[in-house]
Amino acid sequence: MPVPRPTRVEIDLAALRHNFREIQRIVGPGCDVLAVVKADAYGHGVSQVAPALADAGARLFGVALVEEGMQLRRLGIEQPIIILGGIFPGQEPDVLAHQLTPVLYDLTCARQLERVASDAGCNIDYHLKVDTGMGRLGFRVELLDEALPVLKNLKNLNMTGLMSHLAVADEPQRPLTGLQYDAFAGVIAKVSEAGFKPLYRHIANSAGIYSRELTGCNLVRPGISLYGGLTGGPYVNRFTQQPVMSFISQVAQLKDIPPGEGVSYGHRFVTSRLSRVAAVPVGYADGYNRLLTNRGDVLIHGRRAPVVGTVCMDWTLVDVTDLPDTRVGDQVTLLGQDGDAIITAEEWADKIGSITYEVFCQISKRVPRLFVNA
Ligand SMILES: Cc1ncc(COP(=O)(O)O)c(C=O)c1O
Repeated sequence: MPVPRPTRVEIDLAALRHNFREIQRIVGPGCDVLAVVKADAYGHGVSQVAPALADAGARLFGVALVEEGMQLRRLGIEQPIIILGGIFPGQEPDVLAHQLTPVLYDLTCARQLERVASDAGCNIDYHLKVDTGMGRLGFRVELLDEALPVLKNLKNLNMTGLMSHLAVADEPQRPLTGLQYDAFAGVIAKVSEAGFKPLYRHIANSAGIYSRELTGCNLVRPGISLYGGLTGGPYVNRFTQQPVMSFISQVAQLKDIPPGEGVSYGHRFVTSRLSRVAAVPVGYADGYNRLLTNRGDVLIHGRRAPVVGTVCMDWTLVDVTDLPDTRVGDQVTLLGQDGDAIITAEEWADKIGSITYEVFCQISKRVPRLFVNA
């Protein structure tokens, strides 16, 4: 095995399990938790994250793609796996073979799935998705009267869940979330009147879980809060989320640069004093976003040091003039905690004009994930 460079991501599985249990505590025993682990568990590494969540008590799993569902089955996940992104023509046999549960949001897809299931002589569970205001996937509410009788006639399909998705749950002051809940309550009644008895009714993502009572629902679908990425704003006092991901590298070279010299591509940073600059082997190809050029901070010995100059594909430069004890080989924390200091995904997201989800998903596959506290 080649020795990898020291740049790595550490995933704290104890923090992940803690976050899961906190969510289960908040929703109470009458509500199950579907753990959303799409996109390689939001960049955290599904191979260890999914089994850890199963151990912690996740009753269902959610992914975006059929391929991701198949990967979960290969990992030994036996719980129901909901394909939140639906299925595409030709994927029906894989759904069947791996006992995946697709979300259905159009009749063409439902009829095709019925044909494949009936040919194979088996039944397929599905969750029906209704659009109550997200404006993305789902049957529009006014089309349900037409769609439900058609679905009722598809004898090889079982509706085991009824769902919708919130558009602005992370902005609690906006009235839309309440309106979506009201609309969903009407949908639950309509679906029941049409003779369906879906086991699960669910609408809330992470922000939805903390923003209001979940009347009528018995399943929640947290993603980002499992990974400790929803700690700011109105949620801060509601529960204790722990960050799961740390992104760590090392000082590879130290250099003293006289005042007035440019640093890195484009010379976007020019020293104003005799400066000590550390070269850190991490760059935008690793997911260290180029927008952190002259804006990011890192932690060394529990103290902040600023990123100077353009973030390169494989290298980032840090001004350590004010941290004179810095040595080659010292740990550099790009994301996470060092002593009392912390760089959160929120801080990083604010600096690059994005969201914590993208910060996590951007850390590229060439960065090894190390799992701690298994
Ligand atoms: C349908 C659906 N449900 C739940 C989630 C989880 O959302 P969050 O990560 O905000 O908790 C997602 C993520 O985008 C989703 O697409």
